[in-house]
Amino acid sequence: MRSCAYVPKGGVGKTTSTAHIAVSATQDHGLDVLVIDLAGTQNDLATQFGIADEVTDPDAPISAIFGENWSFIRENIDDVFDRMVFATDEGPDLIPADDGLGAEDNNLANVPRENRYDRLESFIEDEVAPQYDLVLLDLPGKEDNITINGLFAAENVIAPLRPGEFERKQLENLERELALIRDDEDHDAQPQLRLVFATMVDQTTNLADEFTDSLESEYPEIAGTSVSESANIGNEQAAGQTLFALPDDELYTTGKRARNAYRELTTDLLNRLDAR
Ligand SMILES: Nc1ncnc2c1ncn2[C@@H]1O[C@H](COP(=O)(O)OP(=O)(O)OP(=O)(O)O)[C@@H](O)[C@H]1O
Ligand SMILES: [Mg+2]
Repeated sequence: MRSCAYVPKGGVGKTTSTAHIAVSATQDHGLDVLVIDLAGTQNDLATQFGIADEVTDPDAPISAIFGENWSFIRENIDDVFDRMVFATDEGPDLIPADDGLGAEDNNLANVPRENRYDRLESFIEDEVAPQYDLVLLDLPGKEDNITINGLFAAENVIAPLRPGEFERKQLENLERELALIRDDEDHDAQPQLRLVFATMVDQTTNLADEFTDSLESEYPEIAGTSVSESANIGNEQAAGQTLFALPDDELYTTGKRARNAYRELTTDLLNRLDAR
């Protein structure tokens, strides 16, 4: 099983990219895919997949895995993992976010450092890996203890970016942070930046092209194709589905382009994961 986390900061298309790559990996590559929403209480992924109403107040919340009682819960409730997981219409399974994540983030601050960052990793190893080919983590857009758990748990990191200088700095910071995690003496996690691409690219300006080109020359091994800006994306999110749920003739040209880009990014990513 492979694990990938989406970073960095907010509003760059993390959730959209997580969902679209998850669906393509399921539908085009036949993989069993689990998506875990750790990105906070808005539960954007549940909304994206049209199951937001179903997942309010889950009886087996993902936040529990970060708490002191987790091993007790795990031992005493046989089906606790199954109760965490929701099926979506488009193929991937989803573990939604819950209101407890903020409190668990705070509690983790009081946990000794060597036990603070490996909780998600253990959960994924014990519960997720036996059942899935690929797990995608949508992480908070800020650097809290949940995010760091995600980076320790993920072998691979995916960074959608919006074209601009500031975002390139974010990428440099991210590279530095991943290097620190790889060097951490308390853990043997080795997360690698595996895929970087521009999102919400307005095809009509050359600023976007320039950004794509510079990404390709600076990061030839990890740069991926750009995703067009398309009104279809937001419209379909509001309707609880991805671009993959629509037939061609119901998509704008930009929507078809964006969907093709996500197909290409998924194939690229899976090839890179296999090549390791
Ligand atoms: N290719 C695109 N074209 C047009 N709109 C897009 C595209 N990708 C994402 N969006 C829109 O941009 C907004 C931000 O995207 P998304 O929620 O995926 O980002 P995020 O990084 O997860 O943000 P957050 O930090 O809030 O979780 C959403 O309203 C989404 O519909
Ligand atoms: Mg998001």
